[in-house]
Amino acid sequence: MSSRFLFVVVLCTWLTTAQAQNSAPQKNTRQIRQNCAAVSSTTCDVAHTLGRGINLGNMLDAPREGDWGVRLLPAYIDIVGIKFNTVRLPVRWSNNAVPSADATLDEFFAKRVEKVVDALLAQGIYVILDFHHYSQIHGDKLHRNEFEVAPDVLEARFLNIWRQISIRYKNHPQKLLFELLNEPHGKLNGKPWNDLARKSLAIIRESNPTRTVLIGPTYWNNVKHLDQLHVPQDKNVIIAIHSYEPFNFTHQGVSYLPIPLPIGKKCCDDQQKKQITDIATNAEMWNKKYGYPLHLGEFGSTDAGDEASRVQYIRLMRSEFESRGIGWAYWDFATSFGVFSSKKMTWIEPLRAALLE
Ligand code: BGC
Repeated sequence: MSSRFLFVVVLCTWLTTAQAQNSAPQKNTRQIRQNCAAVSSTTCDVAHTLGRGINLGNMLDAPREGDWGVRLLPAYIDIVGIKFNTVRLPVRWSNNAVPSADATLDEFFAKRVEKVVDALLAQGIYVILDFHHYSQIHGDKLHRNEFEVAPDVLEARFLNIWRQISIRYKNHPQKLLFELLNEPHGKLNGKPWNDLARKSLAIIRESNPTRTVLIGPTYWNNVKHLDQLHVPQDKNVIIAIHSYEPFNFTHQGVSYLPIPLPIGKKCCDDQQKKQITDIATNAEMWNKKYGYPLHLGEFGSTDAGDEASRVQYIRLMRSEFESRGIGWAYWDFATSFGVFSSKKMTWIEPLRAALLE
């Protein structure tokens, strides 16, 4: 072999590798694919490029922005946009619409949300625009500063809000996804949610015929309830699941549970690991059977748990879901579950690394 030939071979190899590295998707794209037999190839690709995500939680989904201690600052958009492929944006639409059946959205709030959505999309990332916290529709007690509506307009309001959101965003890029309702539960468990999901998707489809929409099972998007979800006939849906097991670790000390869980629980011993693996395996089995791709839209733990345990928990969750080709969004950015300190305006380092490295 002449030395010139050798040089050409080495150069070609180097160029190919360099090209592959340059064109390698940023911020980690899944290699492992889920079963997508029931959806379009576009939605299948979306499911696999959602990758690593974060929830900008307790901001636009608080009864009024700021009520729950965090506001959506413009600086956060760049901070999350650089690091994540996807932002899930929980929004409390119902409290920002008139109480009657038409549920006309408050224009000031709707514009505020749209500005955030546009700024996030300008980062080149996916945005999951999520309908969050309509307490009454689940039969829950109202949050402070959440107003009550007549029971007979609950469903009409939900549908009319979706009609307005759909029209408003119908020309937005396809990287904007809709999520029908966060964690349907209580009165919506089972058939009521299947009916409402079908009706609301039909309304969205009038103006957004192919936009990818996320729909989750009842019992707080629990994997155990996947079998009860009747996915509407549609080629552009992704199924949203949430998981907070081991619950007595992730939710220790939180004030909003009826009976607060004691503080001091660690993670993750063999039994806790098995609990997490079993959930991921069940999710994978459901996907294999039905062909709708899944997305883990929430998981996370509160800062009442010790940091080493939280790091272990995040790494374990990531590896269990990533190894099955399931993208995720951590709950959340800057609350007590968060990975970013809004006081110091810095990442909480071991948690950031656990999520992203
Ligand atoms: C709720 C949050 C809550 C989180 C963890 C979310 O779906 O919207 O208020 O902190 O779950 O429990």
